Amino acid sequence: MPFFMPDPRRSSNEQGCLSVPLRIGYIVRGEKHILIIVVEFSLKFEEVLRIVADIPHMPPERGRLIYDFVLSQRPARILELGFAHGVSSCYMAAALDETGSGSVITMDNVISRQRDPDIHTLLERCGLSSYVTPVFAARSYTWELMKVLEEHTSDGVTTPVFDFVFIDGGHTWDSDGFSFLLADRLLKPGGWVLFDDMLWTPSVSEGEEWVEALPAEERDVAQIENVFNLLVVPHRDYDSFEFDGVWGWARKKPDAATLSADRSDVVRMMYEKSSSARRVFLIRRYLKRLIGKG
Ligand SMILES: C[S@@+](CC[C@H](N)C(=O)[O-])C[C@H]1O[C@@H](n2cnc3c(N)ncnc32)[C@H](O)[C@@H]1O
Repeated sequence: MPFFMPDPRRSSNEQGCLSVPLRIGYIVRGEKHILIIVVEFSLKFEEVLRIVADIPHMPPERGRLIYDFVLSQRPARILELGFAHGVSSCYMAAALDETGSGSVITMDNVISRQRDPDIHTLLERCGLSSYVTPVFAARSYTWELMKVLEEHTSDGVTTPVFDFVFIDGGHTWDSDGFSFLLADRLLKPGGWVLFDDMLWTPSVSEGEEWVEALPAEERDVAQIENVFNLLVVPHRDYDSFEFDGVWGWARKKPDAATLSADRSDVVRMMYEKSSSARRVFLIRRYLKRLIGKG
């Protein structure tokens, strides 16, 4: 039995206690009962920290937080959006390695293959490749999420598969507001969603081409904060909101109904309508081309 139950979403220092797993037992020597306490220092964390400490983007104290969270909540399947060099992926994978099971699917743009080190190299250095599947999107992880959604949707019913979603990608309303809506469909009841850089604004990256292309009013808005406050917090399926100035957490309620579960007949009807409409559309287009008007 642990002496305390730390909140995995807070660092050990913030809680004023040591967040290390304990094993407690006793042995009997003659008349004496001897209490044994084994403190399990997280060797994996220290090993990974040594390898990734100087690589962007996740700082060690945040690495410790996400590692502790995974270690104590034991999410079996993790989705990460935005891996860059793979530092955060390594911290999560280290915790999975400590518990001996689980997996991370992590997504970024194909350009991240050119990072030095790239995610494959970093995972290999840490000996954690078997826990992480990197997905390199040609344009955006939102498109890749569509494929995952398709894979887990049948007859209009989506089976949620992830226990934890970490969103640390584009930090814009468009990419991550949409990402949240997609991830929500794939997040199991009782699972957690975590947003990084809640207060980051595009103006921080002033001079970058994509920022210069934004209308002025979009540059100084903390867009992840807006995603959190306008999409996550008002969502009736979410509770347990936390914001520590950088990270925003929310839990999908354990009794949250999956959105599409009771709508399969409606969805099936719409699929049928759209496939017959598509047939008509294709025939018309074919005929127009045949008579030279298309
Ligand atoms: C802050 S970095 C991720 C850092 C990483 N989670 C860590 O802590 O080590 C954000 C990453 O998101 C990626 N990104 C941004 N928008 C994206 C999109 N729409 N699709 C795919 N990747 C995207 C960028 O390429 C970048 O590598």
